Amino acid sequence: MSYTVLVTGGCGFIGANFVRYLLTERPDWRVVNIDKLTYAGNQANLADLADHPAYSFVHGDICDEALVNDLFSRHNVHAVVHFAAESHVDRSITGPDAFIRTNINGTFILLEAARNYWLGQQRQTDASRFLHVSTDEVFGSLGPTGYFTEETPYDPRSPYSASKASSDHLVRAYFHTYGLPVLLTNCSNNYGPYQFPEKLIPLILNNAQEGKALPIYGDGKNVRDWLYVVDHCEAIVRVLEQGALGGSYNIGGHNEKTNLDIVELLCDLLDKKIAPLPGNAPRRSLITFVRDRPGHDRRYAIDASKIERELGWRPKYTFEQGIEETVDWYLANRSWMAGVLNGSYQKYYESMYGARTEDKE
Ligand code: NAD
Ligand code: DAU
Repeated sequence: MSYTVLVTGGCGFIGANFVRYLLTERPDWRVVNIDKLTYAGNQANLADLADHPAYSFVHGDICDEALVNDLFSRHNVHAVVHFAAESHVDRSITGPDAFIRTNINGTFILLEAARNYWLGQQRQTDASRFLHVSTDEVFGSLGPTGYFTEETPYDPRSPYSASKASSDHLVRAYFHTYGLPVLLTNCSNNYGPYQFPEKLIPLILNNAQEGKALPIYGDGKNVRDWLYVVDHCEAIVRVLEQGALGGSYNIGGHNEKTNLDIVELLCDLLDKKIAPLPGNAPRRSLITFVRDRPGHDRRYAIDASKIERELGWRPKYTFEQGIEETVDWYLANRSWMAGVLNGSYQKYYESMYGARTEDKE
């Protein structure tokens, strides 16, 4: 019988890249994708795979206990890779409710369903796994030096990161209390195809093409550690197949950049690749410093030596390769971007960024 992986949130940015990765790299496996199709979930991300014989899509909410329980038995789920979440920090500041519901309660419902099916109905095998995809944001904010290791104490500072930290604790508790075969990953900022344009890189790429303001929060000196999404997918599969049960693995790109560096690089790449702005103005001229994000974490940086040492994973893409591929993908897929912007995103975009750009400093 083929190995069946229940992917949650597979129509989002990383989830869609992961479903693609699995169907290519593990052709003998079956993938069941449950996604609620929130504003961030987009079936167009997997449209070409809709009829793939090893792929099934279920439009549903991970908080729907009956549905989730049914999925385990109907598909005889061997592994869960849990991406589904509310993922945007700014939204968690303006409306935390959905973050608590999906990220905490939803994770709890999935854990209970796995426990009922694998342990309660004695369907657990040596290959059963519950892999929880989490974030480096649970560790808080770094000063100018140092790195997050797996031992760094949790110190979440936004409703988003607090909800992810809470779900991480639940996942660990199910290992210690019930012996559920869990794994955790805490990854740094991803970039690549299919990312919703509320996040820095696709937002800037879209605005810079259209000659719109490029909003940079605060002084632009906040640092993120960027990883190409395909490298993240490969790391997750490595942890799923070889990780020590109950363990967590930090995943990062060894690639710290300030937000200003990222935005300037994207401007320069677009200036090289597409028609100039009217009057030949460089796209850097669109940069607009706006009011800072409340509680904005200053610096994230991952020490990924555990996964490198124990599982032999390292990123394959250099930042230069990954960002070039990313820019080319967004340029070649303008219709994807247009579809997203014509949808429910538009109202949010105008309310958030319309207001912020008026707050120029
Ligand atoms: P995303 O917002 O692009 O996608 C989230 C997906 O989950 C969407 O398809 C959405 O429809 C779905 N979803 C939301 N609520 C749901 C619910 N109640 N039931 C079923 N589906 C639901 O997010 P992303 O950037 O792809 O992140 C995926 C996961 O990876 C998240 O758990 C996030 O915390 C984690 N993560 C993200 C990054 C990053 O840089 N993007 C880095 C580290 C970890
Ligand atoms: O570190 C992992 C996390 O990375 C994930 O857990 C989150 O799900 C993911 O959204 C991402 O969080 P960030 O808050 O770091 O990503 P975002 O793209 O929102 O912002 C990146 C940085 O850019 C951050 O310092 C805020 C800044 N920023 C963002 C936007 C959208 C701006 O300066 N201007 C902007 O318009």
